[in-house]
Amino acid sequence: MRLGMLGFGNVASATMKAFLDNHHLVRAKTGAEIRFVRVATRTPQRAAGRVPDGCEIGDNWRSVVDDPAIDVVLELTGDVELGREAVLRAIANGKHIVTANKALLALHGDEIFRLADEADRHVLFEGAVAVSIPIVKTLKESAAANRLSSVVGILNGTCNYVLSQMSEECKEFATAVAQAQERGFAEADPLLDISGEDAAHKIALLAALAFGVPIDLRSVTFKGIQDVERIDMAFAKRVGYQVKLIARAVLDDGALSVAVEPMLVPDGSMLAQVRGSMNGIAIRGDLLGTAFLYGSGAGGPQTASAVLADVIELANRTIVPAAGTTHNLGFKRSGISPTAIRFPEQRERPFYLRLRLDDRAGMLAQVTKVLADCNVSVSVLLQDEAHEGQADLVVITHAMSSARLATMIPLLREAAGAGHAVVTYPVLDEPGC
Ligand code: HSE
Repeated sequence: MRLGMLGFGNVASATMKAFLDNHHLVRAKTGAEIRFVRVATRTPQRAAGRVPDGCEIGDNWRSVVDDPAIDVVLELTGDVELGREAVLRAIANGKHIVTANKALLALHGDEIFRLADEADRHVLFEGAVAVSIPIVKTLKESAAANRLSSVVGILNGTCNYVLSQMSEECKEFATAVAQAQERGFAEADPLLDISGEDAAHKIALLAALAFGVPIDLRSVTFKGIQDVERIDMAFAKRVGYQVKLIARAVLDDGALSVAVEPMLVPDGSMLAQVRGSMNGIAIRGDLLGTAFLYGSGAGGPQTASAVLADVIELANRTIVPAAGTTHNLGFKRSGISPTAIRFPEQRERPFYLRLRLDDRAGMLAQVTKVLADCNVSVSVLLQDEAHEGQADLVVITHAMSSARLATMIPLLREAAGAGHAVVTYPVLDEPGC
């Protein structure tokens, strides 16, 4: 099997190094001779001396995707537009694809997978989501016989690192983001991470694999961690929760909600144990019950591990090719339902509320009156000692709808008085997380 590589940045160079280091293992696992014949990169000098003998290095991506000698294109550029053009052209030229480009697949996956399925070409992408965790293979293969009801995870290492640093080390938000960049797991533009968009890309892919729906980023609501304040993390801790950026695809009453947002997760949950830049994913199915997967979500060697696993899988699948069997998202084309990702979330869940109140008689009564009028039941109530005439009141409600919350917020603002913030977070109450 002959490979061509697009890109020679961190992921691509780590993949080439891992291939050179573990070449004999790759051979032993496939029985095939796997060779790199061409690399195309904007910085050919970076690749010089770091590719196997006989592998040519150039700067024109078309020389890879148009080369009839190449069977598989490893698209590792991280560039969405170039990636799209290159992948579509490579598939049209009969090549299989291995990619780690989550943004490419979240934005153009529908077009790419449709073309690939029609052309009977494989597009493998274990390296696109939570690299050390084999979640793509788990959903496509290991859990394939299950009616899945939820996939809930921490899918962005940068956000988890930033939140952990803020909560455990009392770091400022900006300092923690700068550290994530220095450590190399933030995206080139860290706004992609902290806005929740990177996690939205990943959960859009996992929802397609788990539930057989088209990849549709527009149906994924996402909110990032920019506005998370340390005061809410501290209050959350006092009542037994942590603030985490949670990506969820949850099937409820036949409708699917896919969302990314900061949430409170209970201290004793598996997700609360996912700290620093690590990722964790809980899946729930009618047969398997719940399973929790944990590992690094970023890193050169970790991504190389996933990319080379796909290369090995391709070698094993294509040595005895079976026409008409390709179904890149696990579901056959005819099994993909156009269904409805529900938007916004309608499922009831508990909420955390924090109100800053003037420290005077009757304020608490006004707030509890709003809660009572809105028929909202309280599970936890905590008020801090007043400081400079003001006090924070924290409430954790029983499960309620987002619609009811939206009606209640202006009433709480009015009760709290002008200029007083009302901060809210949903609380994760998904079993098995
Ligand atoms: N920027 C991503 C993260 C890297 O922080 O998780 C892996 O996708």
